[in-house]
Amino acid sequence: MALSAIIFTTIFLTINYLYSTFASPIVSNGDVFTGQSLNVTHSLAKRQWAPADQKCTTPAQWDSRVCRPTIGDRAWEDRCRGPTGGAVIRYVLSFCADENTICSNILYQNTVETIECIPRPVAQSQVPAPNQETGVAPFGSNYDLDVEHIQSVTLTNDISLASVSALLEDSGGKYLVTPFFALEGNLRGTTSKICDYNVTNRDCVPSGRYNLKKGNIIDFTFGITPGQVVRLYWAIIGGS
Ligand SMILES: *[C@@H]1O[C@H](CO)[C@@H](O)[C@H](O)[C@H]1NC(C)=O
Ligand SMILES: *[C@@H]1O[C@H](CO)[C@@H](O)[C@H](O)[C@H]1NC(C)=O
Repeated sequence: MALSAIIFTTIFLTINYLYSTFASPIVSNGDVFTGQSLNVTHSLAKRQWAPADQKCTTPAQWDSRVCRPTIGDRAWEDRCRGPTGGAVIRYVLSFCADENTICSNILYQNTVETIECIPRPVAQSQVPAPNQETGVAPFGSNYDLDVEHIQSVTLTNDISLASVSALLEDSGGKYLVTPFFALEGNLRGTTSKICDYNVTNRDCVPSGRYNLKKGNIIDFTFGITPGQVVRLYWAIIGGS
């Protein structure tokens, strides 16, 4: 399939001796437009936004929030900078309050890592809220020798500025299963890996935000060892 790409790179030299680099690749392929920006900002730059319930000493110290599925599927942590900014020095663990939710990684304003507590999926194709689709599917059996698996998800609605994530759990939904081959999500018909394996957290995390259309297919692929029985959870969470 033809793929045309336009890449703009602009380097801004801002006042206050602050250097910001902003590179925005825009890929268009048929109906699918992906807008991803890589906003690498000098560490002296102050963040514009922090969640209202951020756990750092001050909102200015808040860096990011990510799910920690190795601890539990409702666990997440805030990462906090020191009083003068700079590197992340403190991690504050917390949990989605509602027991019937799971933590889902999303991107805010295209680049800020944060999370949303979403209703725990109980079936293959669910619409928990407008501009969202989630699901869960079982894989493997005690006698199964297949190690590579694919779950193809066809969108039933348009979802704008979507963050796509996924994770594997045991069949009881109690603990995270580390895939044998990395868990990834690819947008069919494109080269976009819209959810990418995170080695630290052993889940598939959003690689950007994508304007997805009804009928688009996301192929989640992963490997498990023979005889392993798992659940795959996925979430496609639109943004504004
Ligand atoms: C890049 O990040 C900085 C600091 O968070 C923000 O002020 C700026 O608007 C961002 N630029 C873009 C194009 O997203
Ligand atoms: C993925 O892993 C990297 C490196 O450990 C970490 O900095 C990043 O925040 C992680 N992202 C998510 C969404 O877990």
